[in-house]
Amino acid sequence: MQSSAAFASWISAMPKAELHVHLDGTLRPSRLLDRAAKHGFDIPYRSVEDVTDAYAFENLQSFLDLYYMGTSVIRDEEDFYLLMLDYLSACRDQHITHTEIMIEPQSYLPSGVSLATMMSGFKQAMAEAQAGWGQSVLLILSLLRHLPERDGLEVLEQAHRACPDGFVAIGLASSELGHPPADFTELYARARSLGYRATAHAGEEGPAGFVADSLDLLGVERIDHGVRSAEDPALLARLSREGIPLTVCPLSNVKLKVFDSMANHNLLQLLAAGVRVTVNSDDPTYFGGFLNENFIALHEHLRLTAEQAARINRHAFEASFLPAPARAEKLAELDRYLLAHARP
Ligand code: ADE
Ligand code: ZN
Repeated sequence: MQSSAAFASWISAMPKAELHVHLDGTLRPSRLLDRAAKHGFDIPYRSVEDVTDAYAFENLQSFLDLYYMGTSVIRDEEDFYLLMLDYLSACRDQHITHTEIMIEPQSYLPSGVSLATMMSGFKQAMAEAQAGWGQSVLLILSLLRHLPERDGLEVLEQAHRACPDGFVAIGLASSELGHPPADFTELYARARSLGYRATAHAGEEGPAGFVADSLDLLGVERIDHGVRSAEDPALLARLSREGIPLTVCPLSNVKLKVFDSMANHNLLQLLAAGVRVTVNSDDPTYFGGFLNENFIALHEHLRLTAEQAARINRHAFEASFLPAPARAEKLAELDRYLLAHARP
């Protein structure tokens, strides 16, 4: 077998963890069309090709405009159930045995959709995936930074009241430029006081200083993206020394022009600096690939080795918000796979 084909089948069958995926970023074009038809919504697309043709982005904001339009067709419990089930079925097919999914209620609440409706659909799909193929899932309450901190605080309180065990952590997503971590200190302090773990997008389009501020002002345990940390050698050394995980999303970074090509992505540089890099898909149906496709692109364009891929995947299980016994079980499963399958 050719080395690329051997790598692809080896990484595809490996039990993997994903720590950075937005559920709304897993909406399939066919699902977008069938939900729009169901609700009688007029959208500017007639076919799957029309939808995928629109997926050419200039930057983060041009993507977000389309991404939030996609959420407008998801309205009732069945829609939320199918959205979650579609992604968890992809996890089964991709051997993503554990996933931590960002849920963004602020995209739905203004249209009168309740948190109870969302969670009821999600829970049904999660229970089926758990019973059907042992899927492990945690949910992250991802708040939108283009909205005021007060809005995020209200959603946090509402989520905590309505489903106290629903979310393991909070996150911060959406437009990074103009919305610095310093604007969300109260939100994070409150979430941490309620017992939530914490992560935040930083250093995707925003500067390396946003990564340091997310650590220092928000108390996050991991950083979503963080690739621009490489611009500050002292920060890079700190991330390495403190073992801060970065949830890097290679295909996303190329699609949103954070890097001009995969060959110029800095993931190997981060890894070589000793940073706990993980690989993730971010918004897989918008960016041309789920987790396996991200690993395969790194192998093809950056010569990511099997040893590096295994190390990255180990980081992901280690950096997960799973309780220690479940994390140890997942790591043991990975070790069994690595022992039984020779590295390509
Ligand atoms: N929401 C969905 N994808 C995102 C990304 N790549 N950056 C910020 N917010 C997002
Ligand atoms: Zn993201």
